[in-house]
Amino acid sequence: MIDLRSDTLTQPTPAMRQAMAGAAVGDEQKREDPTVNELERRGAEFLGHEEAVFLPTATMANQIALNILGSPGDALLVERHAHIMLSELGGPAAHSGLLTIGLAGTKGRFSPDQVVNEIRDRTSVHVAPTRIVAIENTHNSAGGRVWPLAEVDAIVSTCRDHELSAHLDGARLVNAAVATGVEPARVARGFDTVTLCFSKALGCPLGALIAGSADLMARARRGKHFFGGAMRQAGIVAAAALYALDHHVERIAHDHIRARRLAEGLAAAGVPVDLDQVETNFVQLDVGPDRAGAIERIKEHGVLVSTTVHPTIVRAVTHLDISDQDVEAAVEAIPAALGTFAPA
Ligand SMILES: Cc1ncc(COP(=O)(O)O)c(C=O)c1O
Repeated sequence: MIDLRSDTLTQPTPAMRQAMAGAAVGDEQKREDPTVNELERRGAEFLGHEEAVFLPTATMANQIALNILGSPGDALLVERHAHIMLSELGGPAAHSGLLTIGLAGTKGRFSPDQVVNEIRDRTSVHVAPTRIVAIENTHNSAGGRVWPLAEVDAIVSTCRDHELSAHLDGARLVNAAVATGVEPARVARGFDTVTLCFSKALGCPLGALIAGSADLMARARRGKHFFGGAMRQAGIVAAAALYALDHHVERIAHDHIRARRLAEGLAAAGVPVDLDQVETNFVQLDVGPDRAGAIERIKEHGVLVSTTVHPTIVRAVTHLDISDQDVEAAVEAIPAALGTFAPA
């Protein structure tokens, strides 16, 4: 099987496993795990923020960020198909008492004007004051779309002008940085808090970081205990993340090249693919109303793809375990499964 369902499916490489096996560890809750401490130091530098805190998942990083940036009764603005909105089980309300307002996005992005239009009267006792804006870069359900730097900066500066906190869900920040041709720290500049996930394109079994100022990270460390994310000999997994920072960042460009090749190969074979959407490692195919049937037929031809929030769209995601040969095989298999033919 060629498994293109998600970039979360990667297996740790033999070299990564070796780094994990040899990791020096200690009690992370007491901040005595040297490998976690080193990852937090390197991670803060990588993200261009004062401090970073190691966490088990990116969902927890997002939820802690929102918890420390807002207070119960505050409003949070996110794009309406963002992971925070759709896939974190109403966490902002459940954990932090936040009202989440979903903004209509284009390619996963929204504008400074949309933010300004949602700023409520903070002096009124009737309305939830808008306090936090979160963007997702790359944007998962938009198809791994990248926010152009100028648009990121415009949102951040709007937040500054209007005393709003800014959170970056950068679960796939490294994909965004590689696609934009800048350092992750540049993309993350100006945000109050940043989430980075290690178990996606970076190929680790688990792990995430939240980064921000020393003051905010002191609160995030408290949040880590509060949310049950304080671990013990977590250096075993932090070692994988350190390995990934050294060895798996630049290679992400190959995932992007493979996604483009897959998209172009499928389009040439008559599969409805929006080539403009392919900016990073996601390819979205429109398989029509019988999506479940299409996924099954593609599986029978040896390829796994997954659903998206859009009813007729499936996605194919390239990652560390997908080779050029896998892509060529998928370019053959998917059109055969869907019965499409190259346009005359
Ligand atoms: C944009 C985005 N944010 C956060 C997450 C959550 O990551 P995790 O599964 O590590 O909690 C995901 C997972 O797919 C995601 O795509």
